[in-house]
Amino acid sequence: MKFSILTLFPDFFTSPLQESILKRAIEKKQISVEMLNIRNFADNKYHSIDDKPFGGGAGMLMQAEPVALAIESVKKINEKSEVIFFTPSAPEFSQKDAYDLANTPTHKIFLCGHYEGIDERVIESHVDKSFSIGKAVVTGGEIPALMCLDAVTRLLENVISKKKSHERETFSVELYEKGEYPQFTRPEIWRKKKVPNVLLSGNHSDIEKYQFENLKNCTVLEKNCILFREKYKQDHQINKKIKLEKYSKNKNCRKKYAELLEYKADNNLNILEFTIVEKNSESDILKNIKINIEELDFTNTNFEEFNMICIEEVINNL
Ligand SMILES: C[S@@+](CC[C@H](N)C(=O)[O-])C[C@H]1O[C@@H](n2cnc3c(N)ncnc32)[C@H](O)[C@@H]1O
Repeated sequence: MKFSILTLFPDFFTSPLQESILKRAIEKKQISVEMLNIRNFADNKYHSIDDKPFGGGAGMLMQAEPVALAIESVKKINEKSEVIFFTPSAPEFSQKDAYDLANTPTHKIFLCGHYEGIDERVIESHVDKSFSIGKAVVTGGEIPALMCLDAVTRLLENVISKKKSHERETFSVELYEKGEYPQFTRPEIWRKKKVPNVLLSGNHSDIEKYQFENLKNCTVLEKNCILFREKYKQDHQINKKIKLEKYSKNKNCRKKYAELLEYKADNNLNILEFTIVEKNSESDILKNIKINIEELDFTNTNFEEFNMICIEEVINNL
């Protein structure tokens, strides 16, 4: 994957690109990263690219023209490219965004702002996506660009060994990337603190269960949603179509006969979306049903109850 970084400080990237995963990915030609100094697109002998904001206000702004020329110079050579700008006011960059960027084979042009930012007109006309890296304001877009470059690179094929993900049988890799569970290394006993026995047991399914139950940053509801998704995804892989009646304990619901074709959850796991084919004597009807998890009462629900409520809700919507 090709990256072009448009910055006022190309040297900022020298050391990070010579370390660890980014270094190896460049050496193995899995990524290429070029730096363009936006100052080289200035039309004055001082290479000045900033000016005072109209309407007053503190600090300087980067001017539209040098930024536009820098982007256009990259686009001239790489037709399929997308321009990504980093700004604190944009939606926060997430792991899902990293996956999306890694799965889109376009040339990525990262635009790093400086001073008080960039003239809005060139953002409107030349930028495809904007991300923030959080609510703190840093001096320039270089650290955000590096973070995004690193997050995307480590998801590209063969950049990191996939062995770990193949070892996961029950839950998807995505699940493990969502949260982190406690991990331990040698010695087994450190200052009287012992590693949990289950991790020494060698029993992979018990270990996975422990890791899932101890996921940090993951609420009970999120865990239920993940289990729900995994359950139907797996059944779906085996049976291709899932007969919903099989999952329903409510006899009235069982009279309706439907098959689950596809099941998706949004990134925050708030909306579960089902594609259902409803069977009746004349024809099969394809339906899309969305359940808003936040609207249902899941207080203290264990997974079995959660599963039931979701399935009944789908069937009630048929
Ligand atoms: C000092 S900041 C400008 C801050 C600007 N006045 C504001 O409050 O939005 C200069 C540049 O750093 C980058 N930047 C700073 N904090 C950021 C953040 N949290 N996420 C993404 N980019 C950021 C942006 O490219 C921004 O144009």
